[in-house]
Amino acid sequence: MLFLGIDLGTSSIKLLVMDENGVVQASAGGEYGLSFPKPGWSEQEPWDWVAQMEASMEQLRSRCDIKEIAGISFAGQMHGLVLLDENDNVIRPAILWNDGRTKEECDYLNQTVGREKISAYTANMALTGFTAPKLLWVKKHEPENFARIAKIMLPKDYLAYLLSGVHCTDVSDASGMLLFDVEHKCWSKEMLELCGIKEEQLARIFESYETVGTIKKEMAERFGLSEQVKIIAGAGDNAAGAVGTGTTKHGMCSVSLGTSGTVFVASDTFAVDKDNALHMFAHANGRYHLMGCMLSAASSNKWWMDNILGTKEYASEQENITALGENHVYYLPYLMGERTPHNNPNARGTFIGMTLDTTRADMTQAVLEGVAFALRDSVEIARSLGVTIKRVRVMGGGAKSYLWRKMLANIMNVTVESINSEEGPGYGGAILAAVGCGAFHSVEEAGERLVHVVDSVSPEPELVAKYEEKYKVFRRLYPALLPVFDEVAMV
Ligand code: XUL
Repeated sequence: MLFLGIDLGTSSIKLLVMDENGVVQASAGGEYGLSFPKPGWSEQEPWDWVAQMEASMEQLRSRCDIKEIAGISFAGQMHGLVLLDENDNVIRPAILWNDGRTKEECDYLNQTVGREKISAYTANMALTGFTAPKLLWVKKHEPENFARIAKIMLPKDYLAYLLSGVHCTDVSDASGMLLFDVEHKCWSKEMLELCGIKEEQLARIFESYETVGTIKKEMAERFGLSEQVKIIAGAGDNAAGAVGTGTTKHGMCSVSLGTSGTVFVASDTFAVDKDNALHMFAHANGRYHLMGCMLSAASSNKWWMDNILGTKEYASEQENITALGENHVYYLPYLMGERTPHNNPNARGTFIGMTLDTTRADMTQAVLEGVAFALRDSVEIARSLGVTIKRVRVMGGGAKSYLWRKMLANIMNVTVESINSEEGPGYGGAILAAVGCGAFHSVEEAGERLVHVVDSVSPEPELVAKYEEKYKVFRRLYPALLPVFDEVAMV
């Protein structure tokens, strides 16, 4: 039997086929663009996801015995608003997780309604990337579109719907909508009322490893798949990535260096901190997790390399970086505003500290370090809540860089572990498909049997001490710049 994980990311889709022993048999993928209709806005055409999923399926046909696929599951970019009309046609481009247009709606929810109430309903506060504030935005600015909404979907669930015909979602991804009562794993009646929507406009909720249905006949024929293929709900990309890195036991931590950067702590218990400083979401293993999310992690490096330096030679640019802990340049990675810890859509990317002898390598180093410092902000919040973080498992494109992993280890003072599959979310999706098909009793069992640490980078006390001093400076930069960010961001 084979299992297919579909990772619907922000810049690309990746399909990964795994066998019962967890060995990756084939993969395929394709890229798509983002559109930024206004500074701080971020949208994608669901049609682009579908086109790349179809093209990737075609590629898989020649790379593995596609008829052996028994189950398909998903890892998806979270929070995106996909609106369908009564004929299940997409109403407008999807508004993505890193879109910052909903400050007014978040202020309404957190201040007028009250953060304590919103937190009591959903276990989280309103943040610009979450789905409910986007619905309120559409209601106010595009009432004609709002009136046409028959179903409110998340990005990966739209693909699951196309394959299965079922309007479904899973508990981990639903958690990021701010419409979901995370503790009781059901839609929040209060939030639905606040947003002016009805429960039938939302999808059916499943645990991430549960089967939502069987593939539609025409889809099976089209892709050369068996008609028995099960469609399993899947998870938000961070929860799926945590499954793919074996981050399922209470207290384990994973860090993602993808387009976004996240710090993810698995938890057996439901507990919300009084400031809602970290997200409290359902995990893909049937339990919960805490998470901090920065919006521009590997995308900061991609922006710096592709758009500014005009190169694709990421590795050779990093070869010129030698003096770790000694850089005089700092970078604030707030290219799309920031979520954790600042919750400020108007924060902006910043370089500071350059002198006439500053080199290209210093600037590149500052970008990598700035992202690692920003991730440490989430680690520090978790530590302040009593979570012990000594080891983290890394995933995401940025984690392929040894230098970046070394920076993370020394900036966070943790051992950074890499595991056998680099494709955390896609691998996690394939594992969820395997669990859904009965190849494993539980997500934990699958993780224990399939996921292994293959490399680790330990912190070095001298370098940790140097970075500690640098982090103190980094921490002072955001408050110092805060008074000007609103003006700088004004358009
Ligand atoms: C998590 C978040 C991002 C996206 C990226 O809350 O917004 O990590 O899931 O795909």
